[in-house]
Amino acid sequence: MAKKTAKKAAPAWRDKLIEAAKRAQKNAYCPYSRYPVGAAVMMDSGRVYTGCNVENASFGLSICAERVAIFKAVSQGEKKVKALCVAAKSAKPCGACRQVIIEFAHKDAEMIYVDWFPMAKKQKVTLTKAGKLLPQAFDPSEAGL
Ligand code: THU
Repeated sequence: MAKKTAKKAAPAWRDKLIEAAKRAQKNAYCPYSRYPVGAAVMMDSGRVYTGCNVENASFGLSICAERVAIFKAVSQGEKKVKALCVAAKSAKPCGACRQVIIEFAHKDAEMIYVDWFPMAKKQKVTLTKAGKLLPQAFDPSEAGL
C-alpha cells in the first residue's frame, strides 16, 4: 500500500509573522529605490518586532527592513531571534543583514522569505535556516569574541 505523506500544517506563528512583515512593508520609506521591504522577527520571548526599509537621499545611510526589526528587538532587551520573515518582491536578506542575523539568531531559527509586493495576488513562501545564510560567516562565538 502506498505510504501517505501527510503534509505538516503550517504553525500559526508563521502565518502571524508573515502578516506582520507584509503590514510593515506598507510603511517602507523607499522613494529612491521604490522597492518596499517588510520584516518581522519573533524573539525567544515570543514577542514580534517589525521593520521596513528606510532610505535616505544620501543613499549609503539607508537601512534594510531586517536590520530595523532586529535592532528594535535588541533595543528592547531581546537577544535571540527564533524566526525571521522578510516580505518583498523576490525577498531575500542582503549580505549585510545576513551577518547581523547570524549575530542574533539561533542557528536553527526559521528564515521565511515571502515573494510578495503590495499589488500581488499570490505570495510564494520559501523556508530556510539561519545557519545556512552565510557560508564561512564571521562567527563571533567561534572567534572567541
Ligand atoms: N532592502 C531591504 O530592506 N532588505 C533586503 O534584504 C534587501 C534590500 C532594501 C534596501 C533598499 O532600501 C532597497 O531594498 C533596495 O535595495
